Amino acid sequence: MQNLEVNSQRLWDTIMETAKFGATPRGGLCRLTLTDADREVRDWFVRACELAGLMVKVDEMGNIFARRAGKDNSLPPIAMGSHLDTQPSGGRFDGVLGVLAGLEVVRTLNDVGYTTTAPLEVINWTNEEGSRFTPPMLASGVFAGVFQRDFAYSIEDGEGRKFGAELERIGYRGQTKCGDHKLGAYFELHIEQGPVLEAEGKTIGVVTGVQGQRWYEVTVVGREGHAGTTPMPVRRDAMLACARMVDKVNKIALDHAPLAVSTVGLVRVSPNSRNVIAGSVFFTVDLRHPDDAVVNEMAEELERMVPQVADEVKVEAKLENNWNSPAMRFDEACMGVIRAAAEELGYRHRDIVSGAGHDAVYIARVAPTGMIFIPCQNGISHNEAESAQPQDVAAGANVLLRAVLAYDRGLG
Ligand code: GLV
Ligand code: MN
Ligand code: MN
Repeated sequence: MQNLEVNSQRLWDTIMETAKFGATPRGGLCRLTLTDADREVRDWFVRACELAGLMVKVDEMGNIFARRAGKDNSLPPIAMGSHLDTQPSGGRFDGVLGVLAGLEVVRTLNDVGYTTTAPLEVINWTNEEGSRFTPPMLASGVFAGVFQRDFAYSIEDGEGRKFGAELERIGYRGQTKCGDHKLGAYFELHIEQGPVLEAEGKTIGVVTGVQGQRWYEVTVVGREGHAGTTPMPVRRDAMLACARMVDKVNKIALDHAPLAVSTVGLVRVSPNSRNVIAGSVFFTVDLRHPDDAVVNEMAEELERMVPQVADEVKVEAKLENNWNSPAMRFDEACMGVIRAAAEELGYRHRDIVSGAGHDAVYIARVAPTGMIFIPCQNGISHNEAESAQPQDVAAGANVLLRAVLAYDRGLG
């Protein structure tokens, strides 16, 4: 099996085939978790896995596990996966690549009739993105014991629809208890979603860990009023407070350059009418840095800044920290087989810390875990224009295949 390679054309065609589920006119994907488009891609995935001879199980969080038997089925499976949900204006590769590359590894092994020692499992985790239902990495989090199932079921989207009800509605609330089985190891292939590999002409990133993240929700309450008649000095304008806070959130990251990032990505203004002074504004804050101590400092600055601005503008502001994901490091043995695979295949590679969150962050708490990055065009992701080169997709899948086989040989 030393020279075994994936069928790169088949993998590319599969990625393009599934891009019809939730396709946007501009060539991207809108496949928010537990929508009809999510159901369609899941139905496709389950069928593809069954056609590949895999045993498919769906757990109570809608996670899909597709298993290929090994020689010793008493061993926990070596898993490969990621997520099939996307951002509202997402691309074709974020998450999708990791799931479909797992399927391609299995198809490749089927082609040559190779049986691993441990079983293999291809996984689609529910709600990695956290765009429709917050927090992100939700169902891998339940699998790893970070969140409770019933907490997940109770989460509402922007329209008040509950996660549990939507899971039921699309027919993916399975019987299996979430977290019912151990994973022997977990490998996730992903696009980098940033500019580093492309800029350095590297094909493979050996992901050493993921930076720390902290999410907040801010609700600013002022007073609605007439835009034409309310004198400026007596206004309590929630939108003005929001605007000043957004600028200061941006400054928090600039003050911790070059590695810190901070984002306000969601704003809801009420009543959102052009000639009414905003009475209330809800917005989100995303703070990240590879060092948790710096994330803490950024958070303290945010917690000082919000009441200060609220005072200045004479509004009330409530700040709630609704998600924390500490910086983490992946398993040395998993990194080792990934690095060795890249080396053997002659791909230029480097170690890299992930700026984005991934299901692998939570799975690393319950199984030896590693991640492989490939470059994406201009470092663009969470954007319909997200793109990757076919040769890089193939390289990533070949590293995944080799890493999994090497890990499996290490067991036998
Ligand atoms: C996940 O996509 C993230 O926001 O890092
Ligand atoms: Mn992703
Ligand atoms: Mn994403």
